[in-house]
Amino acid sequence: MAPRPLVAGNWKMNGSRQSTRALVAALKEAATQPSRAEVLICPPTPLLAEAADALEGVGIELGAQDCHAAAGGAHTGDVAAEMLADLGCSYVIVGHSERRTDHGESDTVVRAKAEAAHRADLSAIVCLGETEVERDADETLAVVGRQLAGSLPEGATPENTVVAYEPVWAIGTGRTPNEGEISVVHRELRDRLVERFGDAGRDFRLLYGGSVKPDNAVAIMKLRNVDGGLIGGASLKAEDFWPIVEAC
Ligand code: 13P
Repeated sequence: MAPRPLVAGNWKMNGSRQSTRALVAALKEAATQPSRAEVLICPPTPLLAEAADALEGVGIELGAQDCHAAAGGAHTGDVAAEMLADLGCSYVIVGHSERRTDHGESDTVVRAKAEAAHRADLSAIVCLGETEVERDADETLAVVGRQLAGSLPEGATPENTVVAYEPVWAIGTGRTPNEGEISVVHRELRDRLVERFGDAGRDFRLLYGGSVKPDNAVAIMKLRNVDGGLIGGASLKAEDFWPIVEAC
């Protein structure tokens, strides 16, 4: 049986306490019936407490966008996975391409962050994806395979780890790979998970992210080996986000 889909909203560096309240209220209103998909929002760190409070009893989970590998100590400006758990998070995104680019995060760093998430009893959403140059050079499968091998810790299980495929050139651009191209990558990721983790590899959720909108969500979410989505821009408005949840 296919795993329960997950639709995660990555708010990135957007929002205020007031807009967080308003967006959670709008999501609550949109969620008139229980969804088949598990739903998650990942606000920026300073808004997590506000979101946790607003989400009380709403049936939507809370996640963060990054964590440090260490449990505490002299790391100015960083946030430990344990702190996120303490705030009510159940997930944390690690290795998003914007962090890989803006902060030079390597697969080794991402793997350490995923391990930190597990140590704090959080599920890690491990992101990977090729750049446009890599796609044009026909290196997509090699790149995502290498990222998957390097970024997933040994202790990864379908319960504590989600993999998100986000082609860098599709993020925030309105461009997406076609359905065949998404299927090929997700199939490759599935095969590699099964190779490494045996039968459990079939149960890891594989999300697609990159310019998912209400009008392309049904076509993408119905693809084999696509177990949900990681949504950026369209997660900032309930009227865009909820139809994507329903597409699952
Ligand atoms: P967009 O949906 O805005 O393309 O962003 C995708 C993303 O990076 C989610 O993590």
